[in-house]
Amino acid sequence: MASASAPAKLILFGEHAVVFGEPALATAVDLRTEVFLRPHTTWLADGASIDAPRYRYVREALKRAWKGGPLWVEVRSMIPPASGLGSSAAVTVATIGAASSLAGENGERADVARLGFEVEHKVQGRASPVDTTTATAGGAILVRREAGERLLWEIRQGDRVWFLHACTLPTLELVVGSTGIAAATGPLVARVKDRVGADPSAAADVRAIGGIVLEGLVALQSGDYARAGELMNRNHERLNRLGVGHPKLERLVQAARPHSYGAKLTGAGGGGSMVALTDRPDRVAEAIERAGGRAFVVRTAKLGLDVRP
Ligand code: MEV
Repeated sequence: MASASAPAKLILFGEHAVVFGEPALATAVDLRTEVFLRPHTTWLADGASIDAPRYRYVREALKRAWKGGPLWVEVRSMIPPASGLGSSAAVTVATIGAASSLAGENGERADVARLGFEVEHKVQGRASPVDTTTATAGGAILVRREAGERLLWEIRQGDRVWFLHACTLPTLELVVGSTGIAAATGPLVARVKDRVGADPSAAADVRAIGGIVLEGLVALQSGDYARAGELMNRNHERLNRLGVGHPKLERLVQAARPHSYGAKLTGAGGGGSMVALTDRPDRVAEAIERAGGRAFVVRTAKLGLDVRP
């Protein structure tokens, strides 16, 4: 048997724009998914059929990372699915890590991240490597247009290239508010692509988000949370203009803001989750719950993929 676990991620700045090659800043947080693999007589996932739609990332990951016979797969996850926290990236990366361990290989992190991205790209139709790289490397990840200090790896897809860097942020406690509305990432990414193709002001929003990301990084690294919060709010407005907001998500964002430096949607949107930067996490969590969301306080985490032979 082999097992591996990988963390949830939060995108602090830059979701959607990163699919177009703009910068993004993400961090691993202290919620994890663990995948166990054991050779078996037939394919099984959590004791039932592996053909169920919720195992599509696991199936795609195993297609690429496992050349042997049938497996009994068990998935244990603390990450709410389809909520902007990267549950699909975590299960993908953990599956690839466990499969290479079972095969007796010591899967290079860059290879795991590349395979993970291929899986997300295949299942979602279009994606960036930010979620899968964060799940693989842990800590904070900065995506840039060119290679710089602390480059982890680069990932290419067609004519797009992303340079994925490790970066250091202060430890942050963040409040996540989940709408409970599960929205698949693929169609949201496709919606933004259509808008950007049809409307130059949407293309300008994408570029503006890229600028916000780099300013947000500087603000967080210098401990200027007031500025970082303001930039989160600006990033949120741009995402709303790209059409990935949702009325319930907006209620949670507005409920969180009076007690926060800033709040924005995180991940793909369309429902999903928001994140607030605050030094009063309990007040913010309470406000989110009162507005009809489910709140949880998370902490940034350093541990990425963790493989157990
Ligand atoms: C989803 O967590 C983030 C998106 O930017 C999609 C992606 O980067 O693959 C919306």
